[in-house]
Amino acid sequence: MEKDIARVLLTEEQIKEKVKFLGSEIKRAYGDKNPLILCILKGSLIFTADLVRCLDFPCTIDFMQASSYGLGSETTGKLKIKKDMDTDVHGRDVIIVEDILDTGVTLSNLIPELKNRGARNVVLCVLLNKPERRRIEVKTDFVGFEIENEFVVGYGLDYAEKYRNLPYVGILKPEVYENN
Ligand code: IMP
Ligand code: MG
Repeated sequence: MEKDIARVLLTEEQIKEKVKFLGSEIKRAYGDKNPLILCILKGSLIFTADLVRCLDFPCTIDFMQASSYGLGSETTGKLKIKKDMDTDVHGRDVIIVEDILDTGVTLSNLIPELKNRGARNVVLCVLLNKPERRRIEVKTDFVGFEIENEFVVGYGLDYAEKYRNLPYVGILKPEVYENN
């Protein structure tokens, strides 16, 4: 695995510190609101697991797997829910936890879906933000790191389902995806 990584972008230590900081920011805003922490599978698995351990107040956790199709030249795409959550979000404050905000297509569809279901408030916590790639504006409430337009893996992020288990975020060598 390591041999496919061109460069470590964010070390375990940097991520840990940032996750702690995000936890304290979330506490300030939602510490008394019993928020629903909504982990978007699969990429946010590790980020969510670390983040919720920094939240020392009541909250609940649920999971959803969603993607968008009709991406081609369209900007809107259509939300495709692969796995839905069990929680009734009616009246809840929902904090969506995402690994990376890229084009914004998926989240720009997911947020209205949760509001339609009656969520009181929906906000977004992303570990990584790639603003250069944005096709649809999405409001981010909690952001870990802004990164350049490079393909990254590790700490939950994959390429072809691999590298999620790397403990850091690294830039994948282009030849890895060029050879596929
Ligand atoms: P979007 O914002 O709708 O384009 O979707 C973002 C999703 O694309 C993320 O949840 C990731 O699964 C995937 N993604 C985007 N950029 C990267 C990357 O650099 N590495 C790995 N996955 C990525
Ligand atoms: Mg992915």
